[in-house]
Amino acid sequence: MKFLEFTMFLVPFLIFVTHHLGNAEFVNFNENFNVSYGQDHFTTLNRGSIVQLSLDNTSGCGIISKKSYNSGFFEMLIKLPPQRSPGVLTSKTRRHGENHGEIDFEFLGTDGDPFKLQTNIFANDSGGREQRLRLWFDPTKDFHKYAILWNQFQIVLFVDDKPIRVHKKNNRFGVRYPTMPMFLEGTIWNGDNWASGKRKIDWSKAPFQLQYQGFQINGCESRNKNCYSNTFWWNKREYWDLTPHQKTSLQQVRKNYMYYDYCSDRKRFKSECNIK
Ligand SMILES: *[C@@H]1O[C@H](CO)[C@@H](O)[C@H](O)[C@H]1NC(C)=O
Ligand SMILES: *[C@@H]1O[C@H](CO)[C@@H](O)[C@H](O)[C@H]1NC(C)=O
Ligand SMILES: *[C@@H]1O[C@H](CO)[C@@H](O)[C@H](O)[C@H]1NC(C)=O
Repeated sequence: MKFLEFTMFLVPFLIFVTHHLGNAEFVNFNENFNVSYGQDHFTTLNRGSIVQLSLDNTSGCGIISKKSYNSGFFEMLIKLPPQRSPGVLTSKTRRHGENHGEIDFEFLGTDGDPFKLQTNIFANDSGGREQRLRLWFDPTKDFHKYAILWNQFQIVLFVDDKPIRVHKKNNRFGVRYPTMPMFLEGTIWNGDNWASGKRKIDWSKAPFQLQYQGFQINGCESRNKNCYSNTFWWNKREYWDLTPHQKTSLQQVRKNYMYYDYCSDRKRFKSECNIK
């Protein structure tokens, strides 16, 4: 039940988001990211403003931020490969090593149905918090904005500025909450092994090219000992909770587009899903 049958290739991607209201400062890719693997499947377009990662039957490709962060607002624009092949693209923030944490955007490929987006949150090595929704647009046609807000009180995932998911910290109910340093990571890879999918990638349609641009990183670097300080705008009171407008918007998204929520798996996640 963990993964959809469409799962085929993955693009884990780390998103660091920045303030969508304020000065949109795009960070320089080369200064902020490394290519983590598949260097020969990596290229830049449009005078360096677009970063392209390819997947074919020889390799995928990945990028990783040079720095790690402990809070922030991270945003980037993503355009999925145009081919209609079963597949998975993932965007994720991730930490390596012990007490592993992740905040993931994963794009599940399609043959023609609406594209599906899966999100997941890992804290202290424990994941299984999948939510899945049908996207209300075609993510292969244009760049769309994917963002993560992460402070001491909540993690919010946004698509085109609409909140699609909130994970609240709540010690009383023992909700697991990521606190360890995270890197931003983006990859496209063959998820055949990972997936329980019956359907394989259609390699005759390769290469699958995933594009990123508009990297915005408003993050507190992990070496800073006070990443919850409210001198960082994303830690301020107004970001401890969704605004009433955002709450309404989130309810609409959940009602109209969400088709799986781990919280329905009550036995497993009783304590953390009882909170509202
Ligand atoms: C990979 O794809 C190329 C081009 O379609 C094909 O010639 C080659 O045989 C494939 N290799 C494998 C290992 O499937
Ligand atoms: C990025 O690349 C530099 C130079 O190769 C390396 O020293 C550093 O560890 C890399 N950082 C990450 C997060 O992979
Ligand atoms: C992390 O998980 C381990 C093993 O389940 C547990 O002993 C530890 O208390 C957990 N740490 C936190 C901060 O939840």
